[in-house]
Amino acid sequence: MLLNNNKNVIKQKFIYTFKYNHHYADLCKLETRQIFGKEEQNNLLFTDVEFDPTISPFIRERFEILSSSPDYSQLLHQIEYNNIKLEGFKVEYLILEGDDTGYKERLNKLRDIGFRIEGIPNYKSPSRIYSICIYEDVWYFGIMKKHDIGWHKHKQKPHSFSYSIGMVTAKALASIAAKGDKSNILLDACCGVGTIMLEACFSGFKIDGCDINWKAGRHTRENLKHFNYSADVFKSDIKNLDINYDAIIIDLPYNIYTTSNDTISQNIIDSASKLSNRIIIVSVSDIKQQIENSGLKVKDFCIVGKRGKSNFERKVWVCEK
Ligand SMILES: C[S@@+](CC[C@H](N)C(=O)[O-])C[C@H]1O[C@@H](n2cnc3c(N)ncnc32)[C@H](O)[C@@H]1O
Repeated sequence: MLLNNNKNVIKQKFIYTFKYNHHYADLCKLETRQIFGKEEQNNLLFTDVEFDPTISPFIRERFEILSSSPDYSQLLHQIEYNNIKLEGFKVEYLILEGDDTGYKERLNKLRDIGFRIEGIPNYKSPSRIYSICIYEDVWYFGIMKKHDIGWHKHKQKPHSFSYSIGMVTAKALASIAAKGDKSNILLDACCGVGTIMLEACFSGFKIDGCDINWKAGRHTRENLKHFNYSADVFKSDIKNLDINYDAIIIDLPYNIYTTSNDTISQNIIDSASKLSNRIIIVSVSDIKQQIENSGLKVKDFCIVGKRGKSNFERKVWVCEK
């Protein structure tokens, strides 16, 4: 962080904004620790890390900072100096915590900026959204990328199951597993009806699925096909898989509808640990000992509280060798 005229000017490349239900506060913090190496504060995060905001269920916008100044007229000079020429642009005002700029003044600022960009704007389907915001007395001008809510279509998947993991948690798990790197290859080791796989596919990750139950495998395939996603689904016990993955997600059987006990969980974790160095596990009970028995270390952890139809907490364990 650099100081300029005694005002804090943040010299980082991106501002991310967050929105989530309080049930997910700890999961969101875990995701930001894993992706950015620090937690969001007051639904905001300043960082140099470039991350696609659509991958996270909690990020609303990514604001790429092009210019910043505590002095608004100075910011306008910087924009002018950059000599931006672009057809189809749009300018939007981003209201951040502590900004009490009135509506009329915000419109005036949008106009100020619009006049300094050469080209004809397109408000309906812009080629790029430029944005302005103020935070802690510093004005920022930049490029805004918004979260795409298209993944909400997965609510209408053909097959679901009362104890399937929720879509928000599933999406966060895929994001945490891959740390936002789309070149990573993932495995959903106990895929059920494929809730995690759908979210990973929408986010642009390559993911395989595996389930010991033939019906689960069939339902996952039909769910994937319904949304035109292509992914391999193995009807197999995880112990019989022989493929290495960058990360594996395990939503362990809960002993509700599917049988489970400590030995079954231990066998699944042991098998997964042979296929990857990074494993994200979801459990209803404390499995720290089983994780350590498999030669893994718990790197991060959180609890996702009860919500909706779910009548139990889920524990999320980020493990590495
Ligand atoms: C809690 S469910 C997963 C639910 C899934 N995340 C979803 O949203 O539909 C656990 C799944 O693990 C599968 N399973 C149990 N033992 C397994 C094993 N050894 N190998 C692979 N899958 C297994 C079960 O058939 C069950 O579908």
